[in-house]
Amino acid sequence: MTTIDQIESILQIPETDKKTPVRVEEARFIYQFIQEKKISKTLEVGLGYGRSAAYIMLATQQPHTAIDPFQKNYGYQAVKNIQAAGLGAAFTHIEDFSHFALPELCHKNEQYDFIFIDGDHKFDGILIDFYFAAMLVKKGGYILFHDTWMRSTRLVNQFVEKNRHDFKTHPVALSNLHLIQKIQDADPRDGMYFQEFYTTKSWFKYRLITYLNDHPNSLLGKVKKLIRP
Ligand SMILES: C[S@@+](CC[C@H](N)C(=O)[O-])C[C@H]1O[C@@H](n2cnc3c(N)ncnc32)[C@H](O)[C@@H]1O
Repeated sequence: MTTIDQIESILQIPETDKKTPVRVEEARFIYQFIQEKKISKTLEVGLGYGRSAAYIMLATQQPHTAIDPFQKNYGYQAVKNIQAAGLGAAFTHIEDFSHFALPELCHKNEQYDFIFIDGDHKFDGILIDFYFAAMLVKKGGYILFHDTWMRSTRLVNQFVEKNRHDFKTHPVALSNLHLIQKIQDADPRDGMYFQEFYTTKSWFKYRLITYLNDHPNSLLGKVKKLIRP
C-alpha cells in the first residue's frame, strides 16, 4: 500500500506545470484533516494532476469521485497518477463539467462528508460549485475551497459567510485554503434575505500576484511579448 511518504515519488507532474496542483503542504493538510475527522465519503471538483485526489484517497482508503472535463488536456495524467499509486480501483472520474455533473449527483441523492472545490476559478463557476456542494454535503460535513488568494474565491467565501448561516467557517493555518462546515440541514433564509458581501480583503494581494504573474496581460507577460512578439 502506498504511504504518504512515498506518494510524491509516484505522482508525475510536469516541470512546466508545477503550479496547477495543490502544494504539497496543502495536500498534507488535507490528508491530516481527513484522518483526524475520520472522513470517508469524498468528492472533488477539479482533478488537475491528481495530487489532491491521491492524498484524499490515501487518507480515507475509500472510494473517491472527481469531476473534470479537461483531463484530455492533461494527457489523463491524474488518472495515471492515481493508478500508479495503486488507488485506481476505488477512483471514479466523471469527465464532465461540474455544472452538469453536480446536479446529477444531487438527483441520485448522493451525500458526502468532504467536498474539495478546485475546478473553474471564475466567480460564477465557484459559486455554482458551492451551490450544489452545499446540497451534496452531509450535515456536519465539510467543503474546502482552494485558491483563496483569488478575488473570485474570496468573494464566494465571503458570500457564504454573510448569507449562508447553515455553514460555519473554520480557521485554517494555510492561507490559500478556506474551510466551511455544514451545521444545519437546510438553508434558513427566506426569499428576501440578502447581506452585502463585498470585501477588499485580498484585493491588493490578488492585483500584485496577477501583475507579476506569467499571464499575457501581466507585467511579465508584456515583457515576454516585447522580447518575443
Ligand atoms: C487547479 S487544477 C486542480 C488541481 C488538483 N486539485 C490537483 O491537486 O492536482 C483545476 C482543474 O479544474 C478543472 N476544471 C476547470 N473547469 C472545470 C469545470 N467547470 N468543472 C470541473 N472541473 C473543471 C481543470 O481541468 C483542472 O484540471
